[in-house]
Amino acid sequence: MPNRLTIALSKGRILKETLPLFAAAGIEPTEDIYTSRKLVFETNQPDVRLLVIRATDVPTYVAYGAADMGVAGKDVLMEHGGAGLYEPLDLQISKCRLMTCAPVGAKPAGRRLRVASKFVNLTKQYYAEQGQQVDIIKLYGAMELAPILGLADQIVDIVDTGNTLRANGLEPLEEIANISSRLVVGEASMKLKHARISPIVELLAKAVAAKQEA
Ligand code: ATP
Ligand code: PRP
Repeated sequence: MPNRLTIALSKGRILKETLPLFAAAGIEPTEDIYTSRKLVFETNQPDVRLLVIRATDVPTYVAYGAADMGVAGKDVLMEHGGAGLYEPLDLQISKCRLMTCAPVGAKPAGRRLRVASKFVNLTKQYYAEQGQQVDIIKLYGAMELAPILGLADQIVDIVDTGNTLRANGLEPLEEIANISSRLVVGEASMKLKHARISPIVELLAKAVAAKQEA
């Protein structure tokens, strides 16, 4: 089908909140995404298929045009940089904050700060804006462990309830950004498939608004 629409969804926590919004916009997978090992899902709309992939891969698929549109956290989009992507809609889901964090009551390091994060670009940019030179240590998860073991002085990570920080003797310092998940559309797809994409964006916007009012 030459004109089919491919939508890349982030698996994990975002997916659970994304599927009801797409259902409200009239797009539903024809089989159970949670129990299947498939990565590509047909939907009730014959020309629309869903990809379920790692959150960090969504901007890449969409920017290269392998998918026409997608859903990803603003943290992931900021880290990617956003080249080749439009961001037409804030889906108001998976809300959290991107913060700098340190052990409770930590004293200044007295040397160049070491900061651990999986968001290395964002981290570099943030501390540069603060006029602070830091060494950045790339980690892929469990950032909270790094200050406990002396691997880093601070971390840049997602904070929601603050429970993970508290449980590990850390405290939030500065907020870098307010995060929620966004609908993204590839620049090329926006031009070539505008007539098919724009009604979907409108229906999703209505679904988001209806959920906010409920
Ligand atoms: P990956 O699968 O690539 O390792 P991940 O483990 O970060 O990614 P999730 O934990 O599902 O994936 O998080 C996906 C997105 O959800 C994040 O990019 C962020 O936007 C948001 N998020 C992460 N943690 C929270 C949280 N505690 N509360 C609300 N939203 C969150
Ligand atoms: C996320 C994030 C924090 C935690 C914050 O981790 O990386 O560790 O949630 O939430 P809280 O403030 O409500 O405790 P997640 O549960 O997704 O685990 P992972 O990133 O290590 O997979």
